[in-house]
Amino acid sequence: MIDFDPLEKHLARLLERHDRSRTPWTYDDLIERMQDRRLDAMVRRLGDGPVDLASVRAAWTAGAGPLHPDHAKALETAYLGETNLPWYAENLYAHLGRGHPLLADFFRRWVAEEDQHGRAFEIYLLMDRAVPSAEMLDAKTTMLRAGRPAPAVDPFEIMVYTSIQELSTRVFYARLSRVVADPLLADLLRRVQADESLHLAFYRDAVRLALRQRPELAEVVHRGLMGFREPVTVLPDYEERKALIWDTGLSNLQVFRTEVVEPLLNYWGLEDPAARARWAG
Ligand SMILES: [Fe+2]
Ligand SMILES: [Fe+2]
Repeated sequence: MIDFDPLEKHLARLLERHDRSRTPWTYDDLIERMQDRRLDAMVRRLGDGPVDLASVRAAWTAGAGPLHPDHAKALETAYLGETNLPWYAENLYAHLGRGHPLLADFFRRWVAEEDQHGRAFEIYLLMDRAVPSAEMLDAKTTMLRAGRPAPAVDPFEIMVYTSIQELSTRVFYARLSRVVADPLLADLLRRVQADESLHLAFYRDAVRLALRQRPELAEVVHRGLMGFREPVTVLPDYEERKALIWDTGLSNLQVFRTEVVEPLLNYWGLEDPAARARWAG
């Protein structure tokens, strides 16, 4: 097990950097923009004449964002990954936060920020009825009831896993933000992506510090990269979701290798050809 005490002052610096770098954001901008878009569409459609409920309803529907159904499904999948937070939190707190005040301090910020991501996606998906809300709730319930077997219990291994998860999430949001037809959603994704970048920076740099202290931990990095599985794999329709995401070009093995595995290995100064080959497309 890694001893974090000698890393204390470095971790304090990473924590301070996180607090300094993050631009706080709220839901107000998202909600106001979504409402204004509806109202604009309604005013345009309804004009000055007498209106009935059916035309008001039609005008309301016309005000939804121009989101392709595949991208809506991809966003819903991202939402489900975020919403599994109670189980990530349980694992991280039990094995990483407890007993180490500084890591616990970062970890509590992390929980608050991750919670905000899931809620913002939920607001967007529900307000625009981008996906059938009953199905979304079903999937969320399935995800939470499945629980989340801890991907690791050793603090260092958890940080390796979390680095991979944060980077893969960031890459996914970046790619989604570039293709969605709705600029409002693209803005939201960029905001969330900025948070993920800071999460990544903390865990990834903590891993690098620990590797300098104990180079033999490269073996744990190797294990983490070889066995990595996304949390949403517990969903019964995971294979369908994956196929859709791959078909849309939002992600695939090659993206994972070149944008997640290789940058992390390079940053940590590790070769690990087996891990690189494991994710070769
Ligand atoms: Fe997140
Ligand atoms: Fe994150």
